[in-house]
Amino acid sequence: MTDPATRLAFLAAEIARHNRLYHADDAPEISDAEYDALMRENAALEAEFPHLVRDDSPSKQVGAAVAASPLRKVAHARPMLSLDNAFADEDVFDFVARVRRFLALPDDAVVALTAEPKIDGLSCSLRYEQGRLVLAATRGDGSVGEDVTANVATISDVPQQLNPSPVDPSDQLRFQGRGKDDAQRRQGEGVSGEHSQSPLPGAARLSLSPEGARGLIPDIFEVRGEIYMAKADFAALNARLLAEAEDPAKARQFANPRNAAAGSLRQKDANVTASRPLKFLAHGWGEASELPGATQAEVVATLKGWGFAVDERFIRTETTEAALAQYRAIEAARADLPFDIDGVVYKVDRLDWQARLGFVSRAPRWALAHKFPAERAETTLEAIDIQVGRTGKLTPVGRLKPVTVGGVVVSNVTLHNKDEIARLGVRPGDRVLVQRAGDVIPQIVENLTRGDDRPAFGYPETCPQCGSEARGEEGEVDIRCTGGLVCPAQRIERLKHFVSRGALDIDGLGEKTIVEFFELGWLHSPADIFRLSQHRDELLAREGWKAKSVDNLFAAIDARRAPDPIRFLFGLGIRHVGAGTSKDLVRAFGSVERIAEVAQSEDAVAELSGVEGVGPVVAKALVDFFHEAHNREVWDDLLREVSPAPYVSSVRASSVTGKTIVFTGSLETMSRDEAK
Ligand code: IVH
Repeated sequence: MTDPATRLAFLAAEIARHNRLYHADDAPEISDAEYDALMRENAALEAEFPHLVRDDSPSKQVGAAVAASPLRKVAHARPMLSLDNAFADEDVFDFVARVRRFLALPDDAVVALTAEPKIDGLSCSLRYEQGRLVLAATRGDGSVGEDVTANVATISDVPQQLNPSPVDPSDQLRFQGRGKDDAQRRQGEGVSGEHSQSPLPGAARLSLSPEGARGLIPDIFEVRGEIYMAKADFAALNARLLAEAEDPAKARQFANPRNAAAGSLRQKDANVTASRPLKFLAHGWGEASELPGATQAEVVATLKGWGFAVDERFIRTETTEAALAQYRAIEAARADLPFDIDGVVYKVDRLDWQARLGFVSRAPRWALAHKFPAERAETTLEAIDIQVGRTGKLTPVGRLKPVTVGGVVVSNVTLHNKDEIARLGVRPGDRVLVQRAGDVIPQIVENLTRGDDRPAFGYPETCPQCGSEARGEEGEVDIRCTGGLVCPAQRIERLKHFVSRGALDIDGLGEKTIVEFFELGWLHSPADIFRLSQHRDELLAREGWKAKSVDNLFAAIDARRAPDPIRFLFGLGIRHVGAGTSKDLVRAFGSVERIAEVAQSEDAVAELSGVEGVGPVVAKALVDFFHEAHNREVWDDLLREVSPAPYVSSVRASSVTGKTIVFTGSLETMSRDEAK
């Protein structure tokens, strides 16, 4: 038998090749089942030999598969936000208190909330113009998603055309918890339809005014909601894939309904999506030329009138206690629900209040996700490996005996840093308790068997990748490789970062391809990316590359020769200079060239730290970066290949532009936060 390391190397290359054939060339050479057999062989070997798991392992490449997607990118008219999380009742009371404070409401003012399940699916935005579905997009990074219109067109829950339905006034729509029998009877047939009545105390029934649903359909309306696969449909799909497989031992199987929904939706060939039982539940909206209601509950009721499925456990309550009672009712019903959920979402009902509350960073102030407690499982910590990141940070990663936690197989956990290992007191060989909460990275929460007889994990004093000294800075827990760009791990991570989604976002140049080109010696620094066409003939001679995919790659690279300056600066991977700081800097100085100039000037730290959002730490990091000879070479080289576009402000001038506004005294109708 081939030795496992060689076999894993072969599998990594072979699977990468099939990914390209499938995604970039649309010319797969093997069936889905054969592909999955390769993936499973890889997973089985990795489970058996966890210390041999490769950095470019196909099991780690979920993100890259996304990046390599052939689906067209689309910018969202309104960002698709995420939600702040709560775990305890206290957090929910705090949330309502914050809302009252922000709106300057008295403590006893009624803040009506809606409460509904948080569906564990994929968010999707459906854009209707003149009532016709014109675009369906995935969430992506919240600002830019992927066009899945053709795929979504195959989902029967999604109307192609919105028709204002005449409403029979006797047909009151009530969104209430229903009895278990009823829920079971209705399993598999979705969630809309007639409703039973078993109101919870304090929870008002929702009725739809006939005008609401009869009203005309707005010119533009984006319905937002969740695409998901019902648990029963997921089981049936796996059974079907098993039955259809030539070799049942190698049949493709999805790990959970969410993965099955994602894999089914993001297909280049919509016929595949059509053969998968996907569903859609509406829970909100994006851009709307008009809103058919003054409250969350009214608009949601209208969506239902237009033909969208809305979860039947949606309620409107006037007290936080009633919202929490609905949380508990939904939690108790969780196992019997036809689909997976991971919590309950509360929203401030009044839309005028939602508008005033607005959002901070990526989450609205008017909504909260109350998550169910995390799921846990016991397993063995088999090894601790050290990964070297872009900035040289050494991160210990725990390799676990694979274990299913809440429906997902977990085989790696981050151990964060030296302190975390000490806090948990974990040593390879220990039994540990692993926890997974929603999409948060799994973690070890407890060491169950302190194996004092086994050797403790020795934290390395040198970088496992390049052998340079590894040390921590004063007051920092992190230990870093001091090798800088001598360290291949840092070089490769910087290259990956440079082309990543938030930075230059070069289509077809995913992490795997970066690794491939790096290992071939074609890539040393970012500028080399723009000289890759020198290797055209060699690349064409490589397995998995065809004229079409090579041309597409070079075209995608050339399309970035005048990169957005903010993405460009962020892509350099300077310590402490994240996407937000890059924006602040470019906005303040107008161009990246100017930033480099300032960073090398005499008063650099003072001038840089004067920028809003930039403090002395960032300023020093910039100065350090541009004072390093090697970085300056990389920079000069890069600027020979690309010319970052000038900064264009997206902020429109208004009556307050350029003015300084000061509030004095006390405000009567709004809080200071809102006034700001
Ligand atoms: S409201 C402005 N309601 O959860 C906030 N989101 O963690 C928009 N989700 O991306 C979300 N069920 O896709 C809302 N009933 C529900 C939801 C829900 C699932 C998803 C949504 C969002 C994610 C945030």
